[in-house]
Amino acid sequence: MRIFVSRDAGAVAVGADEVATALEHAAIKSGVAVEVIRTGSRGLYWLEPMVEVATSQGRVAFGPVAAADAPSVFEAMTAGSPHPLRLGVTDEIPWLKRQTRLTFARCGVIDPRSAKDYCDHDGYRGLERALTLTSDEILTEVTTSGLRGRGGAGFPTGIKWTTVAQASADRKYIVCNADEGDSGTFADRMIMEGDPLVVIEGMTIAGVAVGATKGYIYIRSEYPHAVAAMNAAIAAARRTGYLGERILGSSHNFDLEVRVGAGAYVCGEETSLLESLEGRRGIVRAKPPLPAHKGLFGRPTVINNVLSFAAIPFILAGGAKAYADFGMGRSRGTMPIQLAGNIRYGGLFETAFGVTLGELVDDIGGGTLTGRPVRAAQVGGPLGAYFPRTLFDTPFDYEAFAVRDGLIGHGGIVVFDDGVDMAKQARFAMEFCAVESCGKCTPCRIGSTRGVETIDKIINGERIAENLAVVEDLCNTMKFGSLCALGGFTPYPVLSALKHFREDFGPAPVTLQAAE
Ligand code: NAI
Ligand code: SF4
Repeated sequence: MRIFVSRDAGAVAVGADEVATALEHAAIKSGVAVEVIRTGSRGLYWLEPMVEVATSQGRVAFGPVAAADAPSVFEAMTAGSPHPLRLGVTDEIPWLKRQTRLTFARCGVIDPRSAKDYCDHDGYRGLERALTLTSDEILTEVTTSGLRGRGGAGFPTGIKWTTVAQASADRKYIVCNADEGDSGTFADRMIMEGDPLVVIEGMTIAGVAVGATKGYIYIRSEYPHAVAAMNAAIAAARRTGYLGERILGSSHNFDLEVRVGAGAYVCGEETSLLESLEGRRGIVRAKPPLPAHKGLFGRPTVINNVLSFAAIPFILAGGAKAYADFGMGRSRGTMPIQLAGNIRYGGLFETAFGVTLGELVDDIGGGTLTGRPVRAAQVGGPLGAYFPRTLFDTPFDYEAFAVRDGLIGHGGIVVFDDGVDMAKQARFAMEFCAVESCGKCTPCRIGSTRGVETIDKIINGERIAENLAVVEDLCNTMKFGSLCALGGFTPYPVLSALKHFREDFGPAPVTLQAAE
């Protein structure tokens, strides 16, 4: 009998290790031969620890399972009898079934440390095909797929790779930005823990396409499980000839190393990350030069987010059209959306672009966990705008969010009920910027601190109209005068809170030109 228990940090945090051990004990006691396979998470976090058993109908899931439930769950597994925690055939669970899992297809299904399991589930088909193509042909596939950077900025991946491919240099690098720092986001962590080889395959294809032989995965120190999973997967890929010298007998060499950051939000900004990778303090570099021209150690560098690399194998294996057929407008393919905060069904929901914010929060997310009315959703991390219910018809699409002064960022949605105080949320945005600022430029370094002080005065009821005007002025200075997105995007949550929830900022009449 084969039983699957997640090893994902989110599942381990709620007892998955204890459940795995308890299931093993139950098996020993009953004398049934059992193999317990540790997978990644399926992303239905309210059901973790979720355990599955292989049956003739496919895998059958149970959850959320506590260690004390293990004996009865095990009995139900062996006898095929009913159990209150039985969820049915996993692939038929509606929340999972209505997704379009292109990037996360294997996450929660395979043993992330097994290259064989990866290959048995269509892994490495993209690289195998890439090795039969020329560099230009690979670049055309990536460009035609319409894939845009999943870290947040949405820059076309094909154009970025082409820039690096066309640069002449003695060495080029591939860097994976796994410094996932946005509040409410966990997709990078999940895929690194649940299907690390898809990230490695994507980076290897990038290396083959642009002529780079070395890559680095920069992972935040808060992700020890992801670090372990990536290192184990790199070793497995090397053992099986998918990484290292003469990949699969071809003329291409490519190898990877994991580097662990020290926990600064700003190190998710690409130039700051490169500084950190080179062994210096993570301070933002002025652009130009772009990393594509002069990146790691001064060499042309492809730097992409984890999810961008993880999307590549599907594109190369299935062809650009198979990916581009999903989505809307200029947002092609699927987005792994992360539902978090005060939400009933929180987790990872991969779907084609175009789904509305309201569908995501109310229908898929099931509203708030507290059962109170949803008042706001912050989309795109701590630098993203707060959306009120009146804007929940906004489709998940880079341009549609930009038109409404928002951003989809890395696909994180944090939900708040009617107990939220939006003045405090605006203050939090400024405080976050003040704490995380690298200090290089004045609008961000000083502006955020002045922002905290001024919002405090508003909260205390001091000269509200005057101080709101100061906040507006600070936001404009930060927006247009900051060197990077940290200072430049902090005004989004602040101004959206002021615009859509001005009643939280005191009774004085408010006139906000920039927010209108
Ligand atoms: P950006 O717009 O400056 O650049 C986007 C990417 O395209 C960069 O890699 C840049 O080097 C590249 N690029 C731009 N022009 C190019 C050209 N002509 N040729 C080749 N490459 C080119 O945006 P930035 O500052 O890198 O990122 C801002 C975004 O980061 C925000 O939208 C925010 O959502 C997101 N973000 C994500 C976080 C996370 O945890 N994933 C945390 C904080 C912010
Ligand atoms: Fe540093 Fe802030 Fe300026 Fe970015 S905006 S370079 S984080 S001081």
